Amino acid sequence: MKFITPIIALASLVASCGSPGPLVVRPGEPWPDDQGVHVNAHGGGILHHDNTYYWFGEHKGERSSAAWVGVTCYSSKNLVDWTNEGVALPVSTDTLSDIRAGCVLERPKVIHNKKTGKFVMYFHLELFRQGYAAARVGIAVSDRPAGPYTFLGSCRPCAGYWPVNMTEEQQKATVTPADFPNWWTDEWRQATNDGMFTRRDFAGGQMSRDMTLYVDDDGKAYHIYASEENLTLHVAELADDYLSHTGKYARIAPGGHNEAPAIFKRKGRYFLITSGCTGWEPNAARLYTAESIWGPWTEHPNPCVGEDARLTFRSQGTFILPVPGKRDAFLFMADRWTPRLPINARYIWLPIRFENDLPVLQWHDQWDLNEAFR
Ligand code: GAL
Repeated sequence: MKFITPIIALASLVASCGSPGPLVVRPGEPWPDDQGVHVNAHGGGILHHDNTYYWFGEHKGERSSAAWVGVTCYSSKNLVDWTNEGVALPVSTDTLSDIRAGCVLERPKVIHNKKTGKFVMYFHLELFRQGYAAARVGIAVSDRPAGPYTFLGSCRPCAGYWPVNMTEEQQKATVTPADFPNWWTDEWRQATNDGMFTRRDFAGGQMSRDMTLYVDDDGKAYHIYASEENLTLHVAELADDYLSHTGKYARIAPGGHNEAPAIFKRKGRYFLITSGCTGWEPNAARLYTAESIWGPWTEHPNPCVGEDARLTFRSQGTFILPVPGKRDAFLFMADRWTPRLPINARYIWLPIRFENDLPVLQWHDQWDLNEAFR
């Protein structure tokens, strides 16, 4: 017994010394890494593994938003101080590779597969010099969180499968996009909502642009992506090893024109924060909730409040991190794009607050992670 008291005293002293002071996040300000260089990990996401955070994102250059380097990785113990881990997935010098240098490689996300022990990366891929026409997803894998990752290939997901929430009548309809000389008419909208683009892409696979990954409590993983010419989001189930799609998928908000999906789960309910489709220009965020990941999804008002709420504080969402070990602590990550100097794009990280069980995002010039997530 004699030894216990000093041990407890020492332990609590260590705990209090170790207890971090303010961990200040300054949305929109340059974010220097361990070498004093602004973090270059845009459109990114965070993996928490073995008490370390890994931030993956797009490397952007001075003039070009295209991928001339690849997916970068930074690590941190506290979400504020980031060490540059280098390039996790380099683009290829092989001109025949899907990820040849100069392709468009956006919004990489990494998840860990507990069964296989592998780290799995998905990203939006556009082939070299094809603009945004390819609309593919790329998949890469590694034994270590920071990489290097091995590129496995790219595809348009779910070829030959119907969404679980598309009726037989919708599957069998014959109207095609070519039947409409103009978009956005009432008839075109109805046909789009009824899955005209899903039908068009049934055989070759569904278009897959802005995306995120989500691992549910039961270990099942999902790929959520802007499909159907960015008109409709899809949520697609991944195989047990996370390296492919099972073919089970659902359409979310048909014709809703959503991009930049970011998802989290709270009290058994799924929340999806997205943006509209205005390229690098910011727009108002959208919020959807569902009791099942397969839907139905219900739209709610813009979760942002205050000045610039209609522009998501001049940014576009990319990921929502549930802060490990904290209840109800979710961190919203967004990008303030600067297409004339892509490398300079800023990170807008804000704590999510809840009002009537719905997320609210509010601007802070600066905030303390320890204060926000006690
Ligand atoms: C945005 C999209 C970005 C990038 C950009 C290109 O809407 O979210 O990831 O693709 O368009 O214009």
